[in-house]
Amino acid sequence: GVKQSSLFMSTTENAIGAPGTANLPWSELGFEFRPTKSHLRMIYKDGKWGEEELVELGFEFRPTKSHLRMIYKDGKWGEEELVESPYLNIHIGATALHYGQACFEGLKAFAHEDGSVYMFRPDENSKRINKSSERIMMPEIPTEKFIKACNDVVRDNIAFVPPHGSGGALYLRPLLFGSGPRIGLQPADEYTFIILVIPVGDYYKGGLAKPVNGIIVDNYDRAAPKGVGAAKVAGNYAADLVPNMEAKKKGYPICLYADAATHSLVEEFSTSNFIGIDNKNKKYVTPKSPSVLPSITNKSLQTIAQDEGMIVEKRDIKIDELSTFDEVVACGTAVVVTPIGSLTRFDETGEKEVAKYQFTEDVGETTRRLYDIVRGIQNGEIEDKHNWNFKV
Ligand code: PLP
Ligand code: COI
Repeated sequence: GVKQSSLFMSTTENAIGAPGTANLPWSELGFEFRPTKSHLRMIYKDGKWGEEELVELGFEFRPTKSHLRMIYKDGKWGEEELVESPYLNIHIGATALHYGQACFEGLKAFAHEDGSVYMFRPDENSKRINKSSERIMMPEIPTEKFIKACNDVVRDNIAFVPPHGSGGALYLRPLLFGSGPRIGLQPADEYTFIILVIPVGDYYKGGLAKPVNGIIVDNYDRAAPKGVGAAKVAGNYAADLVPNMEAKKKGYPICLYADAATHSLVEEFSTSNFIGIDNKNKKYVTPKSPSVLPSITNKSLQTIAQDEGMIVEKRDIKIDELSTFDEVVACGTAVVVTPIGSLTRFDETGEKEVAKYQFTEDVGETTRRLYDIVRGIQNGEIEDKHNWNFKV
């Protein structure tokens, strides 16, 4: 059930004129579906009404006004274009479809209290997409073009940026793929770059408030030591689908991968980096591995941790060492700062528990502090002293 006061709050947060909505182009809005913080649901069954429930924005595709598109052909980038249809018409021989020549990015735009909108560190996503695309022989996107494209697609979809105070953000998903045909294995000679945007809330239900229990994956690997783990290429995520689904079926929403060579070291989660916190020694420990994706959130949190007087260690972390951490965090654009409640390891049969590492039952103090600071900067509530926010 929902108390009167929280219902009232949600009503005002959803209202036109709520904080963060001042700049929206109201005159252009028309009469279309728009995202709000939540909707109310109540089910009538067996002759009576159930409890009312407020259902929040999660992390799923939602239609918006447009996506941005730009084609690379004859050795150069064409003009960017904003397209309202969510469909692409691509060649049946496109290398992305056959050989996985595709990489992507993820970043967020946030509404500040005065209604202005800022993207978080798009320059870092630009650098990383160029590293990913180089690894699978795709063309570079000049940083100015990348940031301008992000800016333009957010502007066109400004009405879909969740309001300040809602806890949501507009998620940008830049995607670059080989759209030209090749059947012999070689890179395409035509590429398509798109950026789609969706309003999002929490990746794991409950957000910061609810620690997530994870499984240590031993019967699969995410990335080989000299493979493509450090690049944000589509195939890495295909490799994770089965382990991810098996873990969820067992009741673990998150997977922690080990290093493929020895299965004795911590690598990262399916869609986020690993951080171990040792409160007594004020340590922030994160794996140093050539097959982990260099997370922009992790990089930002490292800076914040250092600003807070913590010691940041980037090094090998033995799985056995998990018992020494007070708090464990999964960090990334989608998952933000997610507290990990426990990590469980099974034997080869997948049936018998062989180890269970228990962390905080509630949100740990350092986890909360890191979350509050990074979200505070993103929301414009804490001084952005490292210049991470880019105004749209
Ligand atoms: N690790 C993997 C495998 C990811 O997919 C992501 C998400 O982008 C991250 C880590 C976190 O990276 P970032 O903080 O740049 O979003
Ligand atoms: C992100 O955090 O931006 C990601 O790309 C994760 C995604 C695979 C859900």
